[in-house]
Amino acid sequence: MDELKDKVAIVTGAASGIGRAAVDLFASEGAVVVAADVADDAGRQIADGLSARGSTCTYVHADVSSEGDVQAMVLLALSRYGRLDVLFNNAGIEGEFAPTADVTLEAWERVLAVNLRGVFLGCKYGVEAMLRSGGGSIINNASVAGLVGFAGAAAYCASKGGVVQLTKAAALDYATLGVRVNCLCPGIIDTPMVRRATQAPGIAEQLVAAEPVGRLGTPREVAELALFLASDRSSFLTGAAVPVDGGFVAR
Ligand SMILES: NC(=O)c1ccc[n+]([C@@H]2O[C@H](COP(=O)([O-])OP(=O)(O)OC[C@H]3O[C@@H](n4cnc5c(N)ncnc54)[C@H](O)[C@@H]3O)[C@@H](O)[C@H]2O)c1
Repeated sequence: MDELKDKVAIVTGAASGIGRAAVDLFASEGAVVVAADVADDAGRQIADGLSARGSTCTYVHADVSSEGDVQAMVLLALSRYGRLDVLFNNAGIEGEFAPTADVTLEAWERVLAVNLRGVFLGCKYGVEAMLRSGGGSIINNASVAGLVGFAGAAAYCASKGGVVQLTKAAALDYATLGVRVNCLCPGIIDTPMVRRATQAPGIAEQLVAAEPVGRLGTPREVAELALFLASDRSSFLTGAAVPVDGGFVAR
């Protein structure tokens, strides 16, 4: 119940899917949570619901591709709660699925802006804040798509591969300074993102068949790994890219 007691945590992409599950879990483990998203109504509802149940949770509008928004998000945590211990850079978009030559430059740049620039900005301003608070844990949400290729997903795969490498470089930069940086590599998780991509007949079954365990993961199962990486239990982990994927990359 108290894995994150007295820790101040920011979760981006907090209004849905994996981010939402992480907000719930972090709050239930005693963290003060700043929930950031661009989906303001859903984000506010989540923060209000948790506050009504006795947790401390504040919603902030933050588009992670905007440097000003990310700075303001981190400043909010510092000014309201005095420190930053955990930052889960989770926000991401799937973009459009198309063969590489058919991907428009706009679509490529949007996916990279949210999924990679957003994580970079989170690391940049999150590290600064954590160094002032005496250290912390940054968790980036990459994907198995950062470890293996998927046809039709060039921008998404490039962005997530970038997150894996950014995680390793940033971890080395701050290894002796008390800031740990790790990333998650989820397999196929049953969230609104995946449901949007599985509208066509037969696709949902194909995704289940692609998972060695024979089912999709749940947002909570990913949030549990984020909790471990956020907590002091993972004190010797930094620079790791950890699959949480039902065996997807083991094949
Ligand atoms: N679902 C999966 O199978 C899966 C697998 C691997 C990795 N991931 C990654 O996990 C993360 C969460 O995905 P999910 O499946 O929960 O998706 P989701 O679509 O359910 O939730 C994503 C959340 O991010 C928010 N968001 C989108 N753009 C944003 C921006 N610019 N700034 C701030 N917030 C923004 C959305 O409003 C939404 O609330 C993403 O980075 C995704 O790439 C998901």
